[in-house]
Amino acid sequence: MSFPLPLTSHLRDAGPLVYGCMALGGDWGDGPVTEADVAHAHEAVEAALAIGIKLFDHADIYRRGKAETVFGELLKRDAGLRAKVRLQSKCGIRFADDTAPGRYDLSADYIEASVDGILKRLAVEHIDILLLHRPDPLMQPAEIAHAFGRLKAAGKVGHLGVSNMHAGQMRWLQSALREPLVANQLEISLAKLDAIDAGTTFNDPQATTRPGGIAWAGTLEYAQQHGVQLQAWGSLAQGRFNDPSASAAAKAVHEIAEAHRTTVNAVLLAWLLRHPAGIQPVIGSGNAERIRACGDATRIQLSREEWYRLYVATRGQALP
Ligand SMILES: NC(=O)c1ccc[n+]([C@@H]2O[C@H](COP(=O)([O-])OP(=O)(O)OC[C@H]3O[C@@H](n4cnc5c(N)ncnc54)[C@H](OP(=O)(O)O)[C@@H]3O)[C@@H](O)[C@H]2O)c1
Repeated sequence: MSFPLPLTSHLRDAGPLVYGCMALGGDWGDGPVTEADVAHAHEAVEAALAIGIKLFDHADIYRRGKAETVFGELLKRDAGLRAKVRLQSKCGIRFADDTAPGRYDLSADYIEASVDGILKRLAVEHIDILLLHRPDPLMQPAEIAHAFGRLKAAGKVGHLGVSNMHAGQMRWLQSALREPLVANQLEISLAKLDAIDAGTTFNDPQATTRPGGIAWAGTLEYAQQHGVQLQAWGSLAQGRFNDPSASAAAKAVHEIAEAHRTTVNAVLLAWLLRHPAGIQPVIGSGNAERIRACGDATRIQLSREEWYRLYVATRGQALP
């Protein structure tokens, strides 16, 4: 028996997978975007489109702005591309500079200036979604609501979401916003179980000492209840399950991939897709062949037993 997803998410129609553009735009230096970078980005974006991806995830800091610049170059060169994609970007992380150390900045002025930079680099007048990249200890919900209200009224941003924020932070921000938060992008994968583990603390003496502990308690539940689309960054576990002899968990991932006649990456994504929250995995590979192979994840359906086999093997601690 299958049940409809308990989601009212504004992003559902963007499809199950998201392409993360952090690998595009060349190196992390200050130099210009090169023709080779444009060619690489073109290949990667075409591969993502070929497997049905519509939503492209950016951040103002990726490759120091060059991920957005190279994507803007693709949009300039292909007049039809903008209509095929939905654009999401993030702001709020500042690298160290002459004035201060690396820091977070969700002040209204910084958010508004960041969006102007994002639009300029992407060569568009509007992005669909803006995510607040990390929680800023100095953030004030009313100030963020003011900035987003101005951006929305100016037609620069469609929706607001967050990243790396737990339930309490989402609830607090939402209390000042007139519009719903539409997304929360967290690191979730078989290599990063905190958000999932936070829901299985019953009878677990190590619950408060496991890395990540119970900080994420209620986060997945809040998102599902309020229609906040969950997105998983690091969804391919940054390639960490590549070697089947590296761990019992890697061996289990490989065996399940073999049983489904698919790749390890597709199994990692299918594990996320199997969660009832309708998590959208964000795929960060810059390799066109690997990106195309990720499309298989929507073909396979892991059984409850396979899901738990992978969860318990990577968790390294038995249930119940
Ligand atoms: N919100 C946040 O704070 C945050 C933080 C980080 C990232 N993100 C977003 O999430 C996206 C994905 O994150 P991510 O890049 O950290 O995670 P990822 O998708 O898990 O990892 C991508 C990296 O893993 C490598 N990889 C994947 N499969 C591999 C395999 N089978 N063998 C060897 N290497 C493999 C890729 O190399 P190749 O390129 O060679 O395939 C690439 O370097 C980013 O693009 C970005 O949009 C968000």
